[in-house]
Amino acid sequence: MTTTRSSQSHNSQPLPIILVLLAAAAAASTPLILQAAAAAAEQDEKQPITLPGCPDRCGDTLIPFPFGTKPGCFREGFQVTCNDSFTPHRAFLAYAGVNQHIAEIYYKVGWHHPVWRTDHGNTALELIDISVADGEARAYGLVSSLCNAANLSGDYVAKCQNLALGERGPFLLSVTRNLLVGVGWRVEPKIMSYLWSAYRNSTYEFSLACLSDLMGMPKLLQLATNGSCSSRGCCQAALPEAAPLTDFGTWFTIEDNPMWQTNPCTYAMVVESDWYRFSTPDLYGVEVLPRRYPRGVPFVLDFSIRNGACPGKGQKPPPDYACVSGNSYCANATGGAAHGYVCRCLEHYDGNPYIANGCQDIDECKLRKLNPELYPCSSDGICKNRLEGYDCPCKLGMKGDGIKGTCTDKFPLVAQVIVGGIGGIFIIAAISFLILLHKEKQKTREFYQKNGGPTLEKAKFIKLFKKEELKPILKSSNFIGKGGFGEVYKGFLDNEEVAVKKPISGTMLENEQFANEVIIQSRVIHKNIVRLIGCCLEVDIPMLVYEFLSNGSLDDILHGKKKVALNLGVRLSIAVESADALVYMHSKTNAKIIHGDVKPANILLDDKFAPKISDFGISRLIARDKKHTGSVIGDMSYIDPVYLQTGLLTEKSDVYSFGVVILELISRQKATHSDGGSLVNSFLEAGKKEKKVTELFDKEIVAEGDLEILDSLAAIALECLNLDVDQRPSMTEVVERLLIMNRSRKS
Ligand SMILES: *[C@@H]1O[C@H](CO)[C@@H](O)[C@H](O)[C@H]1NC(C)=O
Ligand SMILES: *[C@@H]1O[C@H](CO)[C@@H](O)[C@H](O)[C@H]1NC(C)=O
Ligand SMILES: *[C@@H]1O[C@H](CO)[C@@H](O)[C@H](O)[C@H]1NC(C)=O
Ligand SMILES: *[C@@H]1O[C@H](CO)[C@@H](O)[C@H](O)[C@H]1NC(C)=O
Ligand SMILES: *[C@@H]1O[C@H](CO)[C@@H](O)[C@H](O)[C@H]1NC(C)=O
Repeated sequence: MTTTRSSQSHNSQPLPIILVLLAAAAAASTPLILQAAAAAAEQDEKQPITLPGCPDRCGDTLIPFPFGTKPGCFREGFQVTCNDSFTPHRAFLAYAGVNQHIAEIYYKVGWHHPVWRTDHGNTALELIDISVADGEARAYGLVSSLCNAANLSGDYVAKCQNLALGERGPFLLSVTRNLLVGVGWRVEPKIMSYLWSAYRNSTYEFSLACLSDLMGMPKLLQLATNGSCSSRGCCQAALPEAAPLTDFGTWFTIEDNPMWQTNPCTYAMVVESDWYRFSTPDLYGVEVLPRRYPRGVPFVLDFSIRNGACPGKGQKPPPDYACVSGNSYCANATGGAAHGYVCRCLEHYDGNPYIANGCQDIDECKLRKLNPELYPCSSDGICKNRLEGYDCPCKLGMKGDGIKGTCTDKFPLVAQVIVGGIGGIFIIAAISFLILLHKEKQKTREFYQKNGGPTLEKAKFIKLFKKEELKPILKSSNFIGKGGFGEVYKGFLDNEEVAVKKPISGTMLENEQFANEVIIQSRVIHKNIVRLIGCCLEVDIPMLVYEFLSNGSLDDILHGKKKVALNLGVRLSIAVESADALVYMHSKTNAKIIHGDVKPANILLDDKFAPKISDFGISRLIARDKKHTGSVIGDMSYIDPVYLQTGLLTEKSDVYSFGVVILELISRQKATHSDGGSLVNSFLEAGKKEKKVTELFDKEIVAEGDLEILDSLAAIALECLNLDVDQRPSMTEVVERLLIMNRSRKS
């Protein structure tokens, strides 16, 4: 590489400032050479993306090498068929073994073995677009459906997608860019993977990915809300990273459908994350989704060069090495080195690394016309492209740096002399400063690595904030409280009100674990669970950024200094909705989440008093660490005594804690009285002595006269508190009963 790398291209910020000051004295006498850049801008031909003489598109789809349609135009495995019987023409992957088909299976009602089965023959996979920069291609995948049979016998027909990418082929299903989505009154979509080599004679089924469950109760259908795939009518789950997905099908757990007259179909699909928007009418009608998307729904494939590996340092690349462009480099495939490698252009270069001279220097000055924020250059500066970056010197007669927008009129002569005089001292100070800064940067980098930064970068679900972005928020005037494991500050990021959690130093988290937990948490999307927006890893103990909720915690509202009036209706809906969030967490069966610390302080309320559960996952993380030291998590007033005995945290532990929350909601008394007695005991004793528990109820809601409802609430709570774990209801049952109560109260 022969580049005129200027010292400014290192990205170290203070350097330019020093250079500017040093240059200030000299600048007066150095004439600025005006644009030679105009000449360079002329060669504005379109950059090739294919081998010479090869067609570069099929219909609306660009086909960059290694893909290609004509013999000699593609690398093995990347052949594309362009079918001209469509207008515009459509592109299909032509590699042998890449195809999909629908297997149709007929089931008699109540009989879970197939009666007959039809294979609708293989069809080629249709391409949507290709991105060589990301090593990705998008294609159309078919939607699987499970519907009541057309003759309305109550029998049903499963039409299941089977997708084959070929075990040795260049394609893998992207784990980070797709989701498994299920739509229906009750649907449990699954992925079945056929691992031909290792288990040729068997199929390997990934454990269930998500569950949408309206339990066959028509009235629960109204819980489904547009847009949110939150297990009510629609569920979604991240794909398992356990095994590379090349040959698989989407299927269902087959169950009799008591609602087939109104909701005859459920669907399963592997689809690009954030592409599908759930709409409640999708629950009704026959084959709604397959009919709406007859070509299929977009999903993302990773592609790589399979037969080969990146050459080691100093090693000569093999003759069929794919990264042939200058200014390109080789990287392991996303599925790991076992899946070969991909080629990428170096930073500051763009284009196709798979062809000679494919990676071209990015002309920032041209791009900034479209996106001035990305490549700043003030109006007092002149943008000049150069290899690996660009410069923006100030206009004649000015000094400063146009990239930083610091162009100002030059110093008067006297000032220049002074600057020259103190220059020497300044240089010494600057060098010491640089050394300090370098150390600080190194530390930042180390923390980032240690905290799982590289793992989290791959998951595109969450934002990684820089230390500097959060720093302004972490000041005492923004402090809003102290949680179980850290301090909470309120602030603004990207025009959104957020709560930043800064763990107390000394809290130990396992770092790889931390990254995984954060990924899981960021994928838990439910309207009653506090949303994790992002985190900052550049500090010793990672900080977390959550959405901000204006009404604080249920604990504050119930027992805070300022008495807030809460009628029974509000309390009931707080109970229903927080229980619903717990149901959702418990039903995420690919990675079931147990909260482990359910209590009013962890139930936050938004401006409309809708509850959102917080602090889960992380509390479990701390638990895992503390297990070694023998102490326990959670607040003793809420903790399941059975868990204390066995050390085994289950969903039923959350059920116990939720029971205590209900008692607090109806009594407005703290779980532990000031004299050390417990609310649970007060209720248990009142219940035992057949004494009415009525006197324990909060007078404010007793006045509303719904004593029957209060009694039922107390009864549910006491069931949740049962010491025989098996006698406790599940959260699903709790929600169901609370809902019925809520309805009977309204009517
Ligand atoms: C193009 O598509 C049509 C319609 O699906 C199909 O009948 C035909 O065989 C395809 N042609 C090629 C060359 O694949
Ligand atoms: C419904 O149709 C299927 C397939 O055509 C058939 O096997 C089944 O016996 C039919 N059921 C009734 C009740 O007619
Ligand atoms: C599959 O084949 C392997 C080796 O041939 C054998 O050991 C294994 O038992 C077979 N599995 C099943 C489920 O038949
Ligand atoms: C969702 O949107 C559709 C129209 O797109 C509308 O018919 C339906 O009533 C909406 N459902 C809810 C629960 O708002
Ligand atoms: C690719 O992965 C292999 C094995 O995991 C590793 O030895 C190698 O350094 C990696 N190469 C690059 C370029 O990351």
